[in-house]
Amino acid sequence: MTTPAAEPRKRLFIRTWGCQMNVYDSARMADVLAPLGYAPAEAPEAADMVILNTCHIREKASEKLFSELGRLRDTKRERAAAGQEMVLAVAGCVAQAEGAEITARAPWVDIVLGPQTYHRLPEMVARASRAAGTVIETDFPVEAKFDHLPETVAPPGVTAFLTVQEGCDKFCSFCVVPYTRGAEYSRPAAAVLAEARRLVAGGAREITLLGQNVNAYHGEAVAGGGTWGLGRLLRALAEIPGLLRLRYTTSHPRDMDAELIAAHRDLPMLMPFLHLPVQSGSDRVLAAMNRGHTAAEFRAVVERLRAARPDIALSSDFIVGHPGETAADFAATLSLVREVGFPQAFSFKYSARPGTPAAAAPHQVPEPEKDARLQALQSLLRDQQAGFNHSRVGMTLPVLITGAGRHPGQIAGRSPWLQPVHLPGSLALVGREVPVTVLAGNPNSLSGRLAAGDVARSNQPSEEPAPA
Ligand code: SAH
Ligand code: SF4
Ligand code: F3S
Repeated sequence: MTTPAAEPRKRLFIRTWGCQMNVYDSARMADVLAPLGYAPAEAPEAADMVILNTCHIREKASEKLFSELGRLRDTKRERAAAGQEMVLAVAGCVAQAEGAEITARAPWVDIVLGPQTYHRLPEMVARASRAAGTVIETDFPVEAKFDHLPETVAPPGVTAFLTVQEGCDKFCSFCVVPYTRGAEYSRPAAAVLAEARRLVAGGAREITLLGQNVNAYHGEAVAGGGTWGLGRLLRALAEIPGLLRLRYTTSHPRDMDAELIAAHRDLPMLMPFLHLPVQSGSDRVLAAMNRGHTAAEFRAVVERLRAARPDIALSSDFIVGHPGETAADFAATLSLVREVGFPQAFSFKYSARPGTPAAAAPHQVPEPEKDARLQALQSLLRDQQAGFNHSRVGMTLPVLITGAGRHPGQIAGRSPWLQPVHLPGSLALVGREVPVTVLAGNPNSLSGRLAAGDVARSNQPSEEPAPA
């Protein structure tokens, strides 16, 4: 009797840029291709298929694609000379926005696919290896994507992402997302719960719900008709045994409704950290950006959140130099930052994106002015982050251990406020939430040591013994 020869493994390399949703999507593309025999490759040189999952949010983000494509043309030639194939695909938001430009500038690309078409990848791979010329798929059948993606194949880590909502209807003046990700769509609550249970069964202990406007979530209710908002969904997720922590991102200040704020009050496992982009502290600029709220309304949302969950820490996104932003407008942003306090933040120079209203607006801010404003803002934000990290010294915090640290004998985890935490300890603690006394606050992380006792949480799996 002979055993059939194993199908030769093909290798897949995916490079991901952009937001966490792209990270999630890259994992799902790997899941779609796994049944075709694709296993992960360490580097593009060793891959039979390379996918570049791209971001279009700022000019620099898209430029990275074209420099990478130049390098991959050489890799593809070298592999061809050695008799090896390399299917090259460009996915993500640049593919959606600039599909035609990609095929014109880089005709060696085999597949261009938009974010809503990933479930059709196997069919595109087959077409690409049959046909000469590039296969382009950039339609917008959003429901189809989630209906037809296979269940998660690769085991999740201790921390996992779960997309619950995709797309955006808000059309901020500067932003490409409504054009690249399409209209807002929420997955049914039952599908989200089923995926969360699978992730927990696979070892995930912290789940971050993802959406471009995650708190605009309004998915079909599990039963009884109607829809659930994000607050209701979080309550249902909090019931899953073994799940220790919940987070969600990215939220819009306009969609922080009462039910969601109450979830922060009632669910200890909903972590006291929220990324809530405000972009600017000036009402003039907020109006020009079409954000739909004022600086005072943002402050009021923050107050309600703090009343519900006093230990909540906020993170945010800021844009400096939006068209029309004056020195006084920028000063209003600095005042808002000083007043609210952001232990973590991302800040960017405005970058004109083709096709967005702000790109064609008058009064573009000169580059040197944008540079100066960004420096001033970042220096303030850095101080706030360092101050917050330092303020944790001496506290004993629940830390979810996620893996090995940088040095031998060291493990790493996350604080409730998403700070990386390093401590001496055993890898046997991976997946557990343990009490850690903070000994030092560094600019971007904390270090500490295990404290005695256990973290009291109803969902803590009980089969393992408490750490010594
Ligand atoms: N949905 C989120 C943000 C998505 S994009 C929200 O509503 O806030 C992530 C961040 O990139 C934005 O918050 C914004 O700060 C930044 N950004 C988006 N477009 C930009 C542009 N054209 N120039 C500079 N920064 C931009
Ligand atoms: Fe972009 Fe505004 Fe939508 Fe956020 S809310 S994704 S910034 S358009
Ligand atoms: Fe970038 Fe698209 Fe995300 S533009 S930030 S990858 S939604």
